[in-house]
Amino acid sequence: MAVVLPPTPDALDRAAAHLAAGQLVGLPTETVYGLAARALDPDAVARIYAAKDRPRFNPLIAHVAIPDLDAIDGTVVDLGRLTPEGRRVAHALAGRWPGPLTLVLPRGPAVPDLTTAGLDTVGVRCPDHPVARALLARVDGPLAAPSANPSGGISPTTAADVVAGLGDRLALVLDGGACTVGIESTVVHVAVDGTLTRLRPGAVTDEALTGWTGVAVRVPAADPDAPRSPGMTARHYAPSTPFLALPAPLSELDTALRARALGDARHVGLLTWSLADAVARAAPVAADGPAIHRLALTEAGDPAEAARNLFAVLRALDALGAERLLCEPCPPPGAHDGGLGHALRDRLGRATSPLAAVETPTDGRTG
Ligand code: TXA
Ligand code: MG
Repeated sequence: MAVVLPPTPDALDRAAAHLAAGQLVGLPTETVYGLAARALDPDAVARIYAAKDRPRFNPLIAHVAIPDLDAIDGTVVDLGRLTPEGRRVAHALAGRWPGPLTLVLPRGPAVPDLTTAGLDTVGVRCPDHPVARALLARVDGPLAAPSANPSGGISPTTAADVVAGLGDRLALVLDGGACTVGIESTVVHVAVDGTLTRLRPGAVTDEALTGWTGVAVRVPAADPDAPRSPGMTARHYAPSTPFLALPAPLSELDTALRARALGDARHVGLLTWSLADAVARAAPVAADGPAIHRLALTEAGDPAEAARNLFAVLRALDALGAERLLCEPCPPPGAHDGGLGHALRDRLGRATSPLAAVETPTDGRTG
């Protein structure tokens, strides 16, 4: 079982020694905990795929120590393959590091095929977490670090989550406390000519990307010709209890839809946007109806708090022992939410099945 250590200098040295020997380390970042190994060592990277049971078509992010693209040019990335405009855009974005932003750039010659799943691009990010930065400063080269959960499962936001999912597959987890952002980084593809495609929504919004670069952001769902990310499959972050997305809050469903949502379950877990909504909308419970256990993402409707809580709430719902979980809709994304509305709806969309699909759950796990 993995040892969990507070990030003292001794523990960081021990973690660096594990990594130098090609082993895996559980690592806190500001977004979620990562399962780290040396990104330029194919044997170490192979251990990541094996520990997560991750399909080898899903590439990893290389985490770098210093927020400077030129320091990794010619090794991790190959900026020479970008036009001058592409280089300008890449530098403008990397200039905002450290933070929850992954740039997909032309791959440099030092990066093994396994790290990028054979693609000619590589995802790079400089994390904004003192423990991640301290460990990166102690190792030679970047660290590959996917979220530290078994593939397809719920991402970890505490050291205990990492141990619960992968504790028998790694030796050491550094405990940096609960993650402050709570959902994974925004992933953006920088094309050779500087065109931007946002592959995964996160705390860095499309508006911020455009504001920093002056370039409009393409979104694959709306644009069939845009590049895509191998890790963005429909089903992901899934609790092991069946989890159904409701078209409206439970108390607002008509009798037929409500009956369908509840099925014959005796114990139901219900994810609600805010505690304030939960109180306002608590429907009278029928004497012969199921026990309904509500958990809210935020107290009063703060999207940053909802993001921070998201994966912990999904874990808590899964631990209820309910026969069925239901997800009420989040408010539509708006200018007021710092763009987190998109990211929250994206993660909940992948964690749930639509109510219509209740009889035919699917399972396409990838990351
Ligand atoms: O916040 C994060 O990004 C966390 C922390 C640990 O840094 N890491 C993380 O890694 O979420 P992972 O492996 O769970 O997700 C990486 C995503 C996947 O959807 C993958 O397909 C995509 O990034 N990705 C990585 N490299 C790519 C590439 N070259 N082209 C397209 N997509 C890429
Ligand atoms: Mg992941």
